[in-house]
Amino acid sequence: MTPTQNPYAAVADSLQSARALPGPAYVDPAVFAEERQRVFAAGWLPVARVSDLAAPGDYRSADLAGTPVVATRDKAGDLHVLSRACRHRGMPVVQGAGNAASLNCPYHLWRYGLDGRLLSAPAMDQSTAFDVEACALPAVRHEVWGGWLFANLDGAALPLAEALAPLAERLAPLNPDRLVTAGVLTYESPWNWKVMVENFLESYHHIGPHAASLQQTNPGLSTRATSDSDRFSILENPGASDDIGSFVVAVAFPATLMFFTEGVAPFGVWYELCDIGPTRFTLNIHMLAPPELAAVPEIVAEFRDQVAAVHGEDIPVCEGVQRGVSGDLYTPGPLSHLEAGLWAFHRHLAACFNSGSST
Ligand code: FES
Ligand SMILES: [Fe+2]
Repeated sequence: MTPTQNPYAAVADSLQSARALPGPAYVDPAVFAEERQRVFAAGWLPVARVSDLAAPGDYRSADLAGTPVVATRDKAGDLHVLSRACRHRGMPVVQGAGNAASLNCPYHLWRYGLDGRLLSAPAMDQSTAFDVEACALPAVRHEVWGGWLFANLDGAALPLAEALAPLAERLAPLNPDRLVTAGVLTYESPWNWKVMVENFLESYHHIGPHAASLQQTNPGLSTRATSDSDRFSILENPGASDDIGSFVVAVAFPATLMFFTEGVAPFGVWYELCDIGPTRFTLNIHMLAPPELAAVPEIVAEFRDQVAAVHGEDIPVCEGVQRGVSGDLYTPGPLSHLEAGLWAFHRHLAACFNSGSST
């Protein structure tokens, strides 16, 4: 990729001199094509909460920046992440989530085990090219971390326990593994995926769109980033007074967006970025709660209202930023010290673009 196509070539070497990203980072399909390989395929991407794959036969489909996969738990209890593209002509063998004894392609009814092996294929006995052993769904490297099942498409990323060790230490008292899915809210999001990550990485904007909500409880100007890693970001959001709970926002780069409350009601939120394209994605906001609270409808309803309200305040600024950075007159401005997470994210992207050769 030439320097003019690499929007991360000029990432600053200090937070004091750091700037926002240039416009092409948010609009150029060539940049996104490189990101698919260098950022997403090379990184760890969340596929499911492990608690959503509790029983043998449970499965959940996902789309990892253009690569359809399915997470399964097989009869022996083992977890798998498999390509979802049928070994016949590529039809996704399954959609959505559920429980099944096998994965049955709806096109010509090839049938796969939960471990990916091809079990049967109608009317293939005259094909000399057909070899049942060679037609398994490809397995994707996976690990469990923080209650999520993660996948790494290129198989070469650092183990999560190593890459995210300080983040795991920070989150350990909050016990994220224990949280289960209390509900999911879905939004079509017509902006680049990095606009969403950057919005999540700073609470500086509490003073703007969240002036009447989060700014009252967790003032944006009191927040602080506590990591200087380029693999993840941690942002502490203290309460406005002693009787108001604090929360922590964390992002495991590239795009695992996490929020956890501290104190008596240990809730979590996971922003899952799905079907990512150059200037759009589908956002699934997962509400996470301890099982005993996730089972109480009134609590879940209030939780849902709060999550929807906060995201409703973020939608106009995300849409607006996408419009602004798409115009010819946009030039990247300087970052505040309250946006340290953006600088860490940009360094992560720069490192991805600077390592290895173009694909
Ligand atoms: S594409 Fe799956 S059986 Fe034909
Ligand atoms: Fe926000």
